[in-house]
Amino acid sequence: MRIAVVGSGYVGLVTGACFADLGHDVVLVDNDAQKLAALRNGEVPIHERFLPELLARHRGQRIKFSGDLQATTRESDAVFIAVGTPPTESGDADLSYVESVAREISGGVDGYKVVVEKSTVPVYTSQWIHTIITRNGADPAHFDVVSNPEFLREGSAVTDFLYPDRIVVGVENEKAADVMRQVYGPLTSGWYYGRGEAIPRPEAAKTPPRLIITSTKSAELIKHASNAFLAMKISFINAVSSICETVGANVQQVCDGIGTDSRIGPRFMNPGIGYGGSCFPKDLMAFRAVAKESGYDFRLLEEVIRINEEQRHRFLRKVRSVLWTFRGKRLAVLGLAFKGGTDDIRESPALMLVQELVREGCHIRAYDPAAMERAQEVLKSGVEFATDAYDAAKGADAVLILTEWEEFASLDLDRLHGLVKYPLVLDGRNLYDPAIMVEHGFSYYSVGRPAALAEHIAAGPHIKKKEHA
Ligand code: UGA
Repeated sequence: MRIAVVGSGYVGLVTGACFADLGHDVVLVDNDAQKLAALRNGEVPIHERFLPELLARHRGQRIKFSGDLQATTRESDAVFIAVGTPPTESGDADLSYVESVAREISGGVDGYKVVVEKSTVPVYTSQWIHTIITRNGADPAHFDVVSNPEFLREGSAVTDFLYPDRIVVGVENEKAADVMRQVYGPLTSGWYYGRGEAIPRPEAAKTPPRLIITSTKSAELIKHASNAFLAMKISFINAVSSICETVGANVQQVCDGIGTDSRIGPRFMNPGIGYGGSCFPKDLMAFRAVAKESGYDFRLLEEVIRINEEQRHRFLRKVRSVLWTFRGKRLAVLGLAFKGGTDDIRESPALMLVQELVREGCHIRAYDPAAMERAQEVLKSGVEFATDAYDAAKGADAVLILTEWEEFASLDLDRLHGLVKYPLVLDGRNLYDPAIMVEHGFSYYSVGRPAALAEHIAAGPHIKKKEHA
């Protein structure tokens, strides 16, 4: 099929590259000429696993780039809108980019096409898009608007796209549903999985995904409700972790105990310093605004947000309780991205904590495998950037693990111990077994688990300096 994807951000780039890998002819449309030039030159503006391979595989062949949306619309069977919907002051989504794209699409609707909203939008948006396209002169018989929310996680977006749990398509008639069945046919039929050059299939993806056809309004709600539910799961376990800390229980054991109930499930139950990123914080606010507008006061969402913020403050208090005072302390920070596997620092709890620690007078030596460049633009003073985790740890009063990067979970602990000034690790992501940290001579503080003190500390009341430091 001939597919246009409007907007070359995270969602647009991944969607375009994956459609090309499914065998469609894709044109990525963006109004940023510089971005287009960079993409044509082979640059990949975001850190996303498998994206460089897919773009290299299809660039100039199944993927082309254009700044002309009207012309591209004329030559397409389906136009996917994947532009940003940033939050406004009041928390609801700013739909002005979506609106201006819809206006322009209108001029290119010269035969039957589906216009697909991929951006995260509030309920009723597809109706608005329909109205705008019609108002600007397109014949309503020549197009339908479809809602096709994405469930991609940054860092594993390509795999999530190609091996999804399900594909949700909101339509108002069968004609539009048929186009979408063709678009996703290579996935739902299982064809892609047999393809020689397919992106590797994750073990959990056993069967081809189901295409769930709903109304457009239901599809729009599915997106917001999914993200809100996942955020609620994280806040729930974070709240439980606080109780664990007070009573001396172990949240990991509690997680095992509740997550093995198949009605609950173990995923998205990792306690930590709270969720961040460009989706959960924004989507929760937007969903709350949507609910309010529809006359429902969704206070549960406010509580989810409150617990999330409190979780970060709790961690800060924990750091303070271990270090006693902040001013002049040298802290190694491992992780700046909002989660592992991405260079994205938007709404990153790690970054917020670093900013708070700098304000309190700490000297930070930070390392992140991918997000340093972006972080350098935001963190100006009080922060040095290290070349790796060990470089960050040199002479540190304490090591803070703030992002769940895989490489931080497999550090050479003896080497780390030899570099720090004091063997104190505060882990905001529970990457280590406390007993192992103690075996390696560290005092280890994590989330929702009892502190594990190095032997010489456990034996006496004071924090002693490392013998060789
Ligand atoms: C999220 C959803 O997972 C996707 O399904 C959705 O498509 C996407 O938002 C979106 O709306 O575009 P993403 O923001 O990339 O994806 O990241 P997640 O992997 O969901 O993680 C979000 C945050 O929650 C991170 O800060 C992560 O560290 C935190 N988290 C996640 C936890 O604290 N505990 C967990 O168990 C899982």
